[in-house]
Amino acid sequence: VYADKDSASKYVADRIANLIATKQVKGERAILGLATGSTPKGVYKELVRLHKDEGLSFANVVTFNLDEYYPMHPIEDQSYVSFMKANLFDHIDVVKSNIHIPDGTLSLEAIEAFCQSYEQKIKDFGGLDLQLLGIGRSGHIGFNEPGSDHRSMTRLVSLDEITRLDAVDDFKGYDKVPTQAITMGIKTIIEAKQVILMALTQRKAQIMHRAIYGEVSKEVPATFLQKLTHVEYILDNQAAELLK
Ligand code: F6R
Repeated sequence: VYADKDSASKYVADRIANLIATKQVKGERAILGLATGSTPKGVYKELVRLHKDEGLSFANVVTFNLDEYYPMHPIEDQSYVSFMKANLFDHIDVVKSNIHIPDGTLSLEAIEAFCQSYEQKIKDFGGLDLQLLGIGRSGHIGFNEPGSDHRSMTRLVSLDEITRLDAVDDFKGYDKVPTQAITMGIKTIIEAKQVILMALTQRKAQIMHRAIYGEVSKEVPATFLQKLTHVEYILDNQAAELLK
């Protein structure tokens, strides 16, 4: 638990930077699973600073984003492609062909094959070295909403009502929020070699209490992380309010 969002974000950015640097020394690639949303913004800001001011290179980094709305065109303001470019990719030296984000433009028939190839690509790179997660007020990780199975893989899902309500400001109206998304599965996430779940602000206090102390169940998909030995929960004081 960190005093505020800046110190929590700095800790996570340093963890990621150390992983990248350790891999670089060995001549290896760092395979990162990345999240969008308000939570990781401070992490990305600090990574950009480390790149600009302290010479951190992303030349050996491969990224896989957790999810994308469906349908969604990459050039839309609300797309996770736009988010990642604005907050991270446009400001660092990551190689464009090393960036992977679920494709929100596919036809319905093409989605299953895409999802299988997304999983295969992660495997081909030797698996995710580190998966960064936020948590939704529904208890989702990625867009694995309540009801998601712990064996689930990358797939098309329906968004929970709480999740859609939380996206109203971004889309300027409930009716404009997509009802579906493509997300990595719970299995995809928990197979990462390290998992860091971040939760910031008082809005996340209630769900963090359930995620950490609640019974492990599909009702709160984040509870599946309780079983892992390689997970860290990084919270600010406000998100940890009910844990004390
Ligand atoms: C985003 C994602 C989601 C968010 C979650 C929290 O790629 O997978 O699980 O992490 O909805 O969103 P924020 O951080 O905006 O509260």
